[in-house]
Parts: sequence; C-alpha cells; structure tokens
Amino acid sequence: MSNMKISSFEEYHQVYKHSVEQPEEFWAGIADNFHWRKKWDNVLSWNFKEPNVKWFEGAKLNITENCLDRHLDTLGDKPAIIWEPNDPTEDHRILTYKQLHDKVCQFANVLKNNGVKKGDRICIYMPMLPELAIAVLACARIGAIHSVVFGGFSAQSIADRIKDAECALVITADGGFRGTKDLPLKSVIDDALVQCPSVKRVIVLTRSRTPVSMIKGRDVWWEDEIKKVETQGSPVCPVEEMDAEDMLFILYTSGSTGKPKGVVHTCGGYMVYAGYTFANTFQYTPGEVFFCTADIGWITGHSYIIYGPLSQGATTLIFEGIPTYPDAGRFWDIVDKFKVNILYTAPTAIRSLMSFGLDPLKDKDLSSIKVLGSVGEPINEEAWHWFDDHIGHNKAPIVDTWWQTENGGHMITPIAGITPTKPGYATLPLPGIQPVLVDENGKEIEGNGVSGNLCIKFPWPGILRTTYGDHERCRLTYFATYENMYFTGDGCLRDEDGYYKITGRVDDVLNVSGHRIGTAEVENAINMHSSVVESAVVGYPHDIKGQGVYAFVVSPGQHGDADLNRKDIIMTVQRIIGPIAKPDKIQFVSGLPKTRSGKIMRRILRKIAEGDTANLGDTSTLLDPSVVEEIKAGAL
Ligand code: WT7
Repeated sequence: MSNMKISSFEEYHQVYKHSVEQPEEFWAGIADNFHWRKKWDNVLSWNFKEPNVKWFEGAKLNITENCLDRHLDTLGDKPAIIWEPNDPTEDHRILTYKQLHDKVCQFANVLKNNGVKKGDRICIYMPMLPELAIAVLACARIGAIHSVVFGGFSAQSIADRIKDAECALVITADGGFRGTKDLPLKSVIDDALVQCPSVKRVIVLTRSRTPVSMIKGRDVWWEDEIKKVETQGSPVCPVEEMDAEDMLFILYTSGSTGKPKGVVHTCGGYMVYAGYTFANTFQYTPGEVFFCTADIGWITGHSYIIYGPLSQGATTLIFEGIPTYPDAGRFWDIVDKFKVNILYTAPTAIRSLMSFGLDPLKDKDLSSIKVLGSVGEPINEEAWHWFDDHIGHNKAPIVDTWWQTENGGHMITPIAGITPTKPGYATLPLPGIQPVLVDENGKEIEGNGVSGNLCIKFPWPGILRTTYGDHERCRLTYFATYENMYFTGDGCLRDEDGYYKITGRVDDVLNVSGHRIGTAEVENAINMHSSVVESAVVGYPHDIKGQGVYAFVVSPGQHGDADLNRKDIIMTVQRIIGPIAKPDKIQFVSGLPKTRSGKIMRRILRKIAEGDTANLGDTSTLLDPSVVEEIKAGAL
C-alpha cells in the first residue's frame, strides 16, 4: 500500500513527469497496489467528445474487499472507525476492521433479504453514525448503487433525487442529533415518499427514538432485520464481483441549471483515485487517526471519511455533531480525546471558530496534530494563518485541496510536508492531473503569471463517467464549453512560480459554507412562492460562509408586511430545497435589470449585492436603466 507514497519534492517532480509522459504505465503501477479479482485488459480508453472514459477495462474487483477484507489479517483488531457522538456525555464507539467487516456483511445480507440486487439504486438519508458508513459499504459489497442525500435537504429534494435514480429502497433513521437540534429524518422521508412509487422498502435505524410512523409492508426496523440475518447463521456475505466500470455510486450536485445532476462514479477508477490521493496528500502513516469533519452526504465524506481512508487501512473518525456544540472548543476536545493526527476541515468552519477567539483553545492538547487540511472553497489568508498558528502551531503543513464532486478526489493540492505551501494556494497538480488555463475563446494560456478558466486536458481515474440518466447533460456541462477538455467551472491564477490559486466559480454557481448551490435552483424555489413574479439570485461576500445568498425579488401582491413576506419566501426555499439554500438577504424590487432581449444582467446585481455600486459599468443596453437606481437605493 505504501508503494504509492511520494517521499520528496524531487520525487514528486519525477513522478509527475512520468505520469504525463506515460499515463497508462503510471496509473497501472498505482492500481497494482489494490486488490483485483482479475486484472485489467486495458488501462485507459477515452475521448472527451462524447465523453467516453474507461479505466481498467476488463478488471474485476469489489471496493469493500479493498476497504475491509484485505486488512483483516494485518489490521483486524485495529480501529477502522472511531465515532464521536453529538452529545459529549454519550459514549464514543470504536469499530475494529474485523467488527466493521462483520457489520457490513450482516447489513449486506439484510439488503439481500429485502430484495436488493446488483445495479439497484438505494437512497441513504442518515445522520453521521457508523451505520451510515456501514450502509454505504453494504451497498457496495453487493453491487447496489448508493445515492447518499445530505441531511440538510428537504423532502422535495429527496423525492427529486429518488425519482431521478428510481431508487428501490431507502435507508434512514428515526431521527438524528446535530447540536441542539433533533432532525426528524424518517418523517421527512415519509413526506418525500408520497411522490416516489419506485420505493418498496424503507429500513429505519433507531437513533433518537422519536415517534415515527412505520407503514406495514413498506417500513422495517434496521435492528429487527439484523436479528433475522443473525438467526440465518453465517455472518459472511461474499462480495459481488464488479467490473471496473460498473457504477459504484451516484451523488447529486448543483450546477448552473435548475435541476441537480447525479454525478456517477465507477468502481475501479474511483477506488484507485480515492485511495491514491488519500495516501499521498495527507501522507498517512499506519496507526494515525484521521479526522475529516465533512458530512458523508458530500463527496468529501465519501472519499475521505469512507473509501480513501479504509482502502488504506487507516483509522477514520466520524463525528455526529457540529463544531460549536456544546461550545466552540468541540473540535479541539475531539482532537485531544482521540489524539487526532490529521485534521481535514473547511474554511467556513475555521472562520466560524476564529470568531470565538482563542478562549475555546485553552487547555486543549493539540500536540498530536501533524497535518491540517482545507477543502470546499478558497481559503482566505487570515483563516489560513489562524489555522497554521493556533491549530498547527506552525509545525503542521496545511494542504489546501482543490477538487470537485465530479473529480472523485484531490486534483490540485500540496502533498503534506513535501510541497512547499503558500497561503491561499492549492499549489500544484497531483501526478496524473494535467490542468490548463484557457481564455474565453478556449485558447490555452501558457506560461506563468496568468489567469483563466481552469480545465483539465487528460482523464484521471476518478473523473465522473456520466450524469445519471442524461449523458448529454454531462457532455454539455463539462465537455462542450472547450473542445477536448474537462471544464471545471472555476477561475484560476497560475503565479510566477507555476503555483495554482483557485479564484472561485465563473458560472452561476454559489459556494455557501463550502456547499455548492445553483442560483437557478434557488430562483426556481423562490418563484414557487405565490406572491413572486420573478427573482434573481447572486452571491455576496459573507464573513463566515464565504458567500451569502442575495435574492432580488419582484413580489407585487404581498400578503402581510414585507418582513412576513420575506419569511414566507425563506420558508418556501426551505421546503423546496432545504435549509442550506435559504437566502440571507431578500430585497424587494419593482423590476430586474434586463437587456432588450430579456436577459437579466447579473453582473450589475452582483456588484450591487457586493456593495460596489460606484462603477456598475455600461448600463446603456438595459431595457429600463431607471430600475438600477431604485435597486441601488434599496440595497441591503
Ligand atoms: C467547488 C466544488 C470536493 C470538495 C468539496 C466541494 C470549490 C473546492 C476548493 C479549494 C478553492 C475550492 C471550487 C469547486 N472548491 N475546494 N481548496 N480552493 N475552491 O465539492 O460541492 O463539488 O464543489 O468547490 O469552486 O469547483 P463541490
């Protein structure tokens, strides 16, 4: 397993060169560090036109054999998962590799008993518990395709995702705990399922034991189903032999159009990429405790709580709660309690904790920390330095990892302790990754000290293969803007040293607290409210969230006062998408600035939302320039 790890900056440059000159040889060498039931006939075939990308064709494997079975002899009694509950007075749990293996096998047998077969889609809507990881791995073990939906999405969002993938079964819990909140998960699922005839079975784990409705013939308790398989005897569940290019999972993500798309990852390439990047970026050494604070409902959790760490025999920490409960010292308590060695978190969490000052750090022993990581959005220098000074005590390298749901794993990132870092910079591409900057016309911008739109010109094993049920959408979104390139949607600077700094999205996608939110999606939700004629949503700089959601709304027939109407609109967004997309600011306007062809001039709205009204640029092409004055005057 350690054959994959780069150990010096010099070696990085050599390996990088090799990976570009001989990509197939390079990736075959990396893939050799995994367990294959049958090796590949062909390392790579690809074109970005359709697109059609296949890695390790002809190979057979099961990712859970790599994450569990192959470690049993050497690491069977070592902790695979450490779980820390929301409430610090509740006991934590530790699952060894052997115990995790057995539980995954058991639950995989439960799924089989409930009629699940290879290729079936399973929706998972659960709190951050070991059982969430168990459910994910159990699906993978029997070749069912998981679609994990983050707990902050509404019933409507869940229903949309279930319908899109035609899921046959849902795995959830009665409820969950996050900070002081009780999440009514099963009840949300019940609301969603009114619209979802494809779902024949719901498996409900007991967590909060809040009262829930259990519909006869459809809903069963997790614990009861486990008892049934226990009485059936063998706790073993043989793995389903998967083709490298069989689907492993679907994960929905937002884009510049209204409907979220189901990003598809496949078994072989994703496994290699998640494992390779985990081992290298963090320079994980056996025995270390790795704590990724993301939710498993996002790609970061898929790749760096579950698949990456477990494929490398690591100890991965799952935390059920939030950084500020019961107080803003919680992360540091956890680091201290479990002697966490690698902490991987998000700029928004760092900024939020910074705002509490240094008091919450008092008497916390952070000396176990060797590596720090950041992900989700550009990290501002102030947060970078605070992290470096107060958490890493200037001894722990910070890896600012740039990547996306569609990438499967880290793309541009320092390698801990090896790549010299620079605050705010994702630094250099990992081996195998060939970034290019292009101008508006799709022309590659060469040399250093330049900016442009970030594309990748060669496939890597973790690249998305399609968007579920709609391949054309995948082509249009990622492969049609620039010929023969994968377009990331991000703007990027390459400085004089050839170091990359991501400057943020160049499309109509917001990044709110590290979560990707499409402006069109929020507009659609706002427009569902009965008083709304139309709306335009843009981002604005927010101290903690990175970006906030600013909505300009035309709402003539208001019911009650403006404040109440605002609250109604927020409630509507919460119902349609979920609490994560709630607008921070709603400004009522009599009209939106539009061109004569009817296009909303977002550039102007963005400037107003940013409070930069001095120079709005050319407004002469507007249908009605006077509306700009009104909007400027009423800006929040
Ligand atoms: C977008 C992807 C997979 C990571 C979690 C978010 C932004 C992500 C960084 C970073 C600057 C970053 C980009 C990207 N982003 N990491 N280190 N520096 N920007 O995944 O929801 O797929 O969003 O997050 O804009 O395109 P995601």
